[in-house]
Amino acid sequence: MSQPSFTARKTANVAQITTSCLVVPIFKGLKLKGDIAKLDTQMSGAITRAIELGDFTAEVGSSASLLGNDRVQRILLLGCGTAKEFDLSSSKKLAQAAGKSLAATKAREAHLALESLPLTPEDTSHLLETLATEVLWACYVYTETLSKPKNLPNLAKVSVAAIPELTLGKVRKALNAGVAIGEGVNFTRQLGNLPANICTPTYLSKQARALGRKHAKLSVSILDEKKMRELGMGSLLSVGHGSDEPSQLIVMEYKGGKAKDAPYALVGKGITFDTGGISLKPGGKMDEMKFDMGGASSVFGTVQAVVNLDLPINVVGIVAAAENMPSGRATKPGDVVTSMSGQTIEILNTDAEGRLVLCDALTYVGRYKPKEVVDIATLTGAIIVSLGHEASGIFANDDDLANALLAAGQRSHDRGWRMPIWQEYQKQLDSRFADMQNIGAGTAGSVTAACFLARFTEKYKWAHLDVAGTSFLSSPKGATGRPVPMLVEYLRGRAGQ
Ligand code: BES
Ligand code: MN
Ligand code: ZN
Repeated sequence: MSQPSFTARKTANVAQITTSCLVVPIFKGLKLKGDIAKLDTQMSGAITRAIELGDFTAEVGSSASLLGNDRVQRILLLGCGTAKEFDLSSSKKLAQAAGKSLAATKAREAHLALESLPLTPEDTSHLLETLATEVLWACYVYTETLSKPKNLPNLAKVSVAAIPELTLGKVRKALNAGVAIGEGVNFTRQLGNLPANICTPTYLSKQARALGRKHAKLSVSILDEKKMRELGMGSLLSVGHGSDEPSQLIVMEYKGGKAKDAPYALVGKGITFDTGGISLKPGGKMDEMKFDMGGASSVFGTVQAVVNLDLPINVVGIVAAAENMPSGRATKPGDVVTSMSGQTIEILNTDAEGRLVLCDALTYVGRYKPKEVVDIATLTGAIIVSLGHEASGIFANDDDLANALLAAGQRSHDRGWRMPIWQEYQKQLDSRFADMQNIGAGTAGSVTAACFLARFTEKYKWAHLDVAGTSFLSSPKGATGRPVPMLVEYLRGRAGQ
């Protein structure tokens, strides 16, 4: 996979620069100024005319591509809307439009002109960061299992120059952050998109080891089934019972803070394929259950981004990986298992398997005395009924943590919405044959799933993200990389950045 690289330049005079594509953000209703006005004059007023003719409205998210001359071969105008209404979501829309055009252009190289924008330095650097992330997002193409990959982008290089309001160091910093997040997001998408015959629990553990080898501050250990049996993880192990693929508990420890700092923990549901088990799913769209490791892949992408951002905190990423298959050895409805916490679970539906792997991983993570724990899971179809594909469901036993995730989602425009885990819902999980059953009585399926997890997370501050609606889409079919932007933003906040 080839992805464009981003470079910061000390200076670049837009009226003199040679480039195959000049990217120019334009605010609605503002007269062209300085070097951009000069460039327009050199182009015989092409930019002004595109605006006057109405071909380019400068509406946020709009864009227009103009042919230039020998020096500036193409000009890509990016609509920013009005300066007054410019906010974080404008930043995102504008960056997405830039990504779309740059992924489609034949140009191999582009230069982004930042001069004369009516923005604060903070907004400009946030815009720059978002642009880098979104250009990487748009340039990602899945090629792994195609003999003739198509639609490969041509773009190899994007440059940005310092401006008086933003020093070279700050431009570099914004670009590096945007790239770290974009690469984390694309790593997450790649793992999600890989078919389940390649991306098995063992494959995920190899990916973790490879990541650990690349980074000195990251150490990786894998717990195999034998070790998990010794620890009493009867719930997690019951999910992989019917599969020929061994389950894996993957632990990635990032040490960016002081040795004694309590870590922030991320715990991902890593069902590499969810057939439903003996409670077999219907056939339609079952292929999409290869995306049932979207929580796990977001842990990988976030950990990679945190390492590349060199955040001064400790983070532990845990992935509970298993394949949910029917077979002669598979768990059956009515079976009772004992979790690592000692609590017993009556498995009434083998398709409610995510909570079964997570509960043991959540007990295990207690060993790290974590400051906060966030689990991420494609846990319920019901969350799609509630929130569609716009917001991830946020459940939490701590208001400050919930608010931090909500705010991080706003900032990164990878939003979540809080859902309740009130005591009243818990009685749906009462069982006659065990301490609890693994499904509710029929209503509020996402809430009862979260309530199940809450029984294993009482000892620490915890949030659960249900990303069944946000981590992948059916059309265009593919992993989205969410909620990596939200998680990275949350951890940056916790690192004081
Ligand atoms: N992996 C599914 C949830 C899911 C559904 C993710 C659709 C993405 C898209 C999960 O394991 C599951 O099967 N949940 C059941 C729970 C039910 C049996 C209580 C569901 O949502 O139907
Ligand atoms: Mn399931
Ligand atoms: Zn599942």
